[in-house]
Amino acid sequence: MSLCSIRLLSAIALCIASFGASAADKPGVVIYATGGTIAGASKSNTDTTNYTAGSLGIDVLIKAVPELNDVATVSGEQISNVSSSNVSSAILLKLSKAINAKLAAPDIHGAVVTHGTDTLEESALFLDLTVKSSKPVVIVGAMRPATAISADGPMNLLEAVALAASKDAENRGAMVLLNDRFASAYYVTKTNSTVVDTFRAVEQGYLGMFTGTVPHFYYEAAKPVGKPFFDVSKTESLPRVDVIYTYEDQDIALIDAAIAAGAKGIVIAGSGNGAMTAAVKAKVAELSKKGFPVVVSTRTGSGFVSKKEAGIGSGFMNPQKARILLMLAINDGASDEKIRSYFGTF
Ligand code: SIN
Repeated sequence: MSLCSIRLLSAIALCIASFGASAADKPGVVIYATGGTIAGASKSNTDTTNYTAGSLGIDVLIKAVPELNDVATVSGEQISNVSSSNVSSAILLKLSKAINAKLAAPDIHGAVVTHGTDTLEESALFLDLTVKSSKPVVIVGAMRPATAISADGPMNLLEAVALAASKDAENRGAMVLLNDRFASAYYVTKTNSTVVDTFRAVEQGYLGMFTGTVPHFYYEAAKPVGKPFFDVSKTESLPRVDVIYTYEDQDIALIDAAIAAGAKGIVIAGSGNGAMTAAVKAKVAELSKKGFPVVVSTRTGSGFVSKKEAGIGSGFMNPQKARILLMLAINDGASDEKIRSYFGTF
């Protein structure tokens, strides 16, 4: 289906929807668009892998779902329009500052961020740790581009806005929504490269699910144990933290290269419960003694990495999430003991 056909269908749907009730009395929800597959387009409606992510603007996304007006008074802001692999810490800082400022307004009930799914969990954790508000922040993506048969983006966007407009969604931190289910941004991760039910919090589960545009919560509002807050209102850039994946026979060349490139911290994606080769472990121990922070996570995809002899166990943070938390901790000037407390492994 071409973009023209999408716009035509949207325009017809908009006319039908305009016969309904006005949206003026609905909760205010701001949608921040960053790009990704939810804004992706292809010449073929069966193409779900070779499309261009970040092709459509926020206005097109909003117009394509006139039902948004049934659940909220919606406004949109384009923060970037990139595939999520190109979301930078500069984009994250811009996004966090914009959301913090907007949620302070009394007429705004919540924020939605449209984002590519590949690194969505990293940005979602960043927002969870840097937005100070009891109001809902919902990060949403799609696995199929807007031009695909059965595109999942429009329904995901509608549910995300309905969640951000919901009173029950307050005091839960940032949440990630796709495929009718939503989970805590602190724990959720992408578990499959292509299927639509890819987002899971493997150990902690979902917070709730949707029927139509109604969110159903499984639990009362709660905060992840030990979740810190970082004020980035005056931060212009974040310290470099590199992730190094472990494997058999590994030497210390990648660690040395990361430090030479300017890394101020390193995350090791260790095997099992954060295991490393003897050479890497000795290097990590040496760096730790010098006060250089090394967090040791796991490449297994789930589980807890406990207190380590060398380095700081990452607790429940997978390597990519550990990188976000370590960047923020270093930026804050946190001591070794404080960093350990953030990861829950002291
Ligand atoms: C991306 O992450 O930008 C592309 C993939 C996706 O959004 O699913």
